[in-house]
Amino acid sequence: MRAQKIKAPRGTFDVLGEQTEARATLEARARALLEDAGYERIETPTFEATELFRLGVGESTDIVRKEMFTLEDGAGRSLTLRPEGTAPVCRAYVEHGMHKRRQPVKLWYLSSFFRSERAQAGRYRQFWQVGAEALGSEDPAVDAESIALLAALLGEMGVKPVRLRLSSLGSPASRGEYRELLQNYLRAHAEQLSPEVRERIELNPLRAFDSDHPGTRRVMSGAPRLLEHISSEDADHFTEVRELLSQANVAYEVDPTLVRGLDYYTRTVFEFTSDALGAQSGVAGGGRYDGLVERLGGPPTPGMGWAAGIERMLLAGDAIPGGANAPELFVALADGTDPARRRAAFALLGAARSAGLRAQMELAGRSLKGQLGFAGTLGARYVAIVENGETVLRDMQEGGQERIATDTVVHAVLRGLRTL
Ligand code: HAM
Repeated sequence: MRAQKIKAPRGTFDVLGEQTEARATLEARARALLEDAGYERIETPTFEATELFRLGVGESTDIVRKEMFTLEDGAGRSLTLRPEGTAPVCRAYVEHGMHKRRQPVKLWYLSSFFRSERAQAGRYRQFWQVGAEALGSEDPAVDAESIALLAALLGEMGVKPVRLRLSSLGSPASRGEYRELLQNYLRAHAEQLSPEVRERIELNPLRAFDSDHPGTRRVMSGAPRLLEHISSEDADHFTEVRELLSQANVAYEVDPTLVRGLDYYTRTVFEFTSDALGAQSGVAGGGRYDGLVERLGGPPTPGMGWAAGIERMLLAGDAIPGGANAPELFVALADGTDPARRRAAFALLGAARSAGLRAQMELAGRSLKGQLGFAGTLGARYVAIVENGETVLRDMQEGGQERIATDTVVHAVLRGLRTL
């Protein structure tokens, strides 16, 4: 067969070098923050029955209509690469009878998700999210705690400038009445709307608030607002969420035009955006989904959660300082080293690692100058140049060097690092 160069598919990327480190740091911070707040890690499968997303995310959403990667297994079952994490977490809650545990059950995840979207900066076909879901309580404190944790994570990652838009969609009953009101309004202004919005008046009229078509935007500025039509119970819930957010010093703006791209939301919805991102300004979003567990065959169970895009947080956040893995000792070989010296160097590498040092060794046959340059690039603190029975130990930070017996190098490095 002829050799061929094959590239990663469009909208996907490899994670390399510094990016690996930045992601590991983000994951460590998310884990510390969420697990300290009582969230437990959950892993769900990369693919699920397609029905889960049709039912959970909703037939009228862009995700289900045009963004799912769906495949069939040998037995003709339809499977879909997960486009989001909330429906799978609710499926797992039902499947494992988690309603019998103490409520709320708080779960977090960090996984990759798949959407067949037009790829551009900040928008990929395989992307990563960190998410948190709290199931089993409708207390407004759950909403406020969840949002405050996300605000803290974005703060720790240095994501700025960040805006929190907040609204309430009320409950399905009040939404039904409002839907009709909005549909009538849209029908009355149909000729000014974009063809796409016009087509969706019956299926999903609320999405008209999301359009960037100028005519549609003009019509929507005068449209009735859902927030003004929610029940008094839902309005009280929203007021309490706002009070508690203020208590937690989380700044927000109420935006009654906020709609989310998933059908399961009830009551609280929110989105964090950052101007640092350009067109794809959404860093994180979420809300309540009080009917979802029941729709997936479980007992009536309220739920609240969010997901934040890892790539978008890294794009909009402060650069995470690298160098955490820089070697404390780099074992170099003098030019033209014979096998005996190579073995002595290898033994030194092993001894250094056994003593708990981060150590690396020359593996590519570079000249001594090349090795010193490489050790510098790695950020190595000490370089040991192994000669016959003796070693030159160079302090790359302070600049000095000394010739010592090879079997005292580890001790000297430990002393230099003041861990002895
Ligand atoms: P979402 O708003 O669809 O919500 O996605 C959350 C975040 O994932 C977005 O704010 C964005 O940062 C990131 N994201 C989404 N699509 C892409 C993409 N194609 N490329 C890169 N990043 C992307 C959800 O997924 C809900 N499950 C959130 C939730 C949890 N609601 C309640 N619980």
